[in-house]
Amino acid sequence: MTRPTAPFVCHGCGARVDAAEALPFRCPNAGADDVDHLLLPVDVEPVFPPDREDNPYLRYRHLLSPYRLARSAGLSDDAWTEFVGRLDEKLADIDGTGFRVTPMAVQPELAQAVGFGGALWVKNETGNVSGSHKARHLMGVMLYLRVIAAARLPVGDGLAHRRLAIASCGNAALAAAVIARAADWPLDVFIPPDASAAVVSRLKELGAKISVCTRQGGEAGDPCFLRFRAAVQAGAIPFGVQGTENGLAVEGARTLAFEMAEGFASAKLSPEAVFVQVGGGALASALGQGFALAAAAGLIVKPPRLVAVQTAGCAPLDRAWRKMADIRPAEAGQHRSRFMWPWESVPHSIAHGILDDETYDWLEIVKAMQQTGGCSRVVDEDTLARAYELGQQVTGIPVSATGSAGLAGLIADPSLGGPAAVVFSGVDR
Ligand SMILES: Cc1ncc(COP(=O)(O)O)c(C=O)c1O
Repeated sequence: MTRPTAPFVCHGCGARVDAAEALPFRCPNAGADDVDHLLLPVDVEPVFPPDREDNPYLRYRHLLSPYRLARSAGLSDDAWTEFVGRLDEKLADIDGTGFRVTPMAVQPELAQAVGFGGALWVKNETGNVSGSHKARHLMGVMLYLRVIAAARLPVGDGLAHRRLAIASCGNAALAAAVIARAADWPLDVFIPPDASAAVVSRLKELGAKISVCTRQGGEAGDPCFLRFRAAVQAGAIPFGVQGTENGLAVEGARTLAFEMAEGFASAKLSPEAVFVQVGGGALASALGQGFALAAAAGLIVKPPRLVAVQTAGCAPLDRAWRKMADIRPAEAGQHRSRFMWPWESVPHSIAHGILDDETYDWLEIVKAMQQTGGCSRVVDEDTLARAYELGQQVTGIPVSATGSAGLAGLIADPSLGGPAAVVFSGVDR
């Protein structure tokens, strides 16, 4: 048997963490300096096997570090299929659906309605587990936890007695609660006082323990996030969707880009650009990484231009992007605080899911934007409202204002000639 291994490397300081031996959550050097720390899996040569599995965690298993760890630790392909299958059955019981490749189609009427001349792809995540793409991030983390337990790797010792923790009051919290429940793992959710009553009630129904977080005098940054960090320091497992807190979180959502790339490849029509709504940044980061892998595998000719869309009320990524000018991401990553800091004012928007006061995963996004010739767009509330209304009315997809915010970026500037794609990332609640 080979030595179990699943290497991760910090994109800021270069620290190496092998997920077979240490938990690849926060970079061990994070917090000590002004470097942007994020553990990224060391990818192997990407191959898209002609696998017709409908579950993305089976279909793309060779592209996932927890699967590679499982195999190198002596677990069989069948064992992986069983972890995925068992969780999937539970997910279907709890939430009505397990993970399946989600639908994507060209929407000519929507393109016409928004005044866009090219073909417009819409990837529909509203029917995904828990109603958004967020569950993809967390399934990647849970599969890692399953693998280290089943392979009895010492790195997993005592983990079963540690609670999961997340700071969120929306789609990420719901995704975490559904997956935690499927895995029968206790979860703490840190929410603000104004969290939606419907979301809180569903979280409670799913068995999550709720902590309401208020701002303590003089505190900078999101109080929920600060409480989450304190819980993790006290032993909780970071089960959120920020890559900086858990290096596995972003990887699970690369499956979204893989599915899209396969769809483009089979239609022989690749988009020139993908417009993505950005809050904490894990979604755009995952798409950037996933499309790069799909291009490296020859599935698509080149990764589409990544266009990051934020609201005028809260645009820390756009602020960083404009400061970058021609500075290379590797250099910017050595001086995080010059580019990324908490948004100073309290923002409001109908797209409330993208009001994170920091774009935690900013550096991988700016890297992908530079590499693909992409850019940043900031949209106003009227444009967000238009995208929300047209997104629902023209396609019939019950998308939320947050989930259609990428479309607002296209509406703001439809001058781009080639085909484009957007992700309707979450259901209207
Ligand atoms: C439906 C939906 N789309 C997109 C996002 C933004 O994702 P990220 O925070 O990874 O940028 C969110 C975040 O809450 C969301 O709920």
